[in-house]
Amino acid sequence: MNTTPNLLIINGSPRGGRSLSRKMASRFEESWRNRIPDSKVLVKNVGSEPPPFVSEAWIAAVFTPPEERDEEQRKLLDYSDQAINELRAADTIVLATPMHNYGVPAAVKAWVDQVVRVGETFSFDLKRGDFPLEPILAGKRLVTLTTAGEFGFTGNGIRNHLNHLHPHVEVFSRYLGVSQSWQEGIEYQEFGDKRFEDSKAKSFAAIPRIVDEVIASFLREERKEQNRIAVE
Ligand SMILES: Cc1cc2nc3c(=O)[nH]c(=O)nc-3n(C[C@H](O)[C@H](O)[C@H](O)COP(=O)(O)O)c2cc1C
Repeated sequence: MNTTPNLLIINGSPRGGRSLSRKMASRFEESWRNRIPDSKVLVKNVGSEPPPFVSEAWIAAVFTPPEERDEEQRKLLDYSDQAINELRAADTIVLATPMHNYGVPAAVKAWVDQVVRVGETFSFDLKRGDFPLEPILAGKRLVTLTTAGEFGFTGNGIRNHLNHLHPHVEVFSRYLGVSQSWQEGIEYQEFGDKRFEDSKAKSFAAIPRIVDEVIASFLREERKEQNRIAVE
């Protein structure tokens, strides 16, 4: 590997050591570090340290040209600036999150609202007609690791129609610059029965395989890039 991929882990659970989704993220991190010991890894616990919600003043600051922002406006955008820099630096993002009320926890949504920002992560141009928004970032990989108390949220599952988590992640991931995605989820947590144990075992076994696939995809892209440079 000529360049080393950076990993950004977003933990959405408000829980610490008891959090199942955090345990999934830790398994991913452990596998990742085994494969790429010199990779930079940033773990951001947005669930237990929630980002600020956007406010009227925040929106006004975003729409003020950077050179015209006053001190207060610059301060208001501190969290967003830093979170966007962390996102830019990441080649791979792991979003480890519980399902809360059939969607992402409010803290995860608050993080998305801080990083999906006009002029920074997307451009807006009415010349594009009815679809004026375009993402600025590209080429990132996203691994979504989820936990749910109930079950049947995927495929032909009995609660698939209630799953607003995965479709929402898919929609906003475009504005995070995501080009390739993986997902793995544990269900049945509230039942605590054999189905839960089986679901956990299956997902924890899948995580190292996902790490291998993500790294293989990174290496493929790196080879393509080197060939492109060699041709030029
Ligand atoms: C506020 C809240 C809302 C929840 N909403 C749902 C839900 O809509 N569907 C579901 O299957 N489980 C729901 N759960 C259960 C969690 O998804 C489940 O306990 C998960 O394993 C928690 O992950 P964590 O240990 O990483 O926090 C909810 C839990 C909480 C605390």
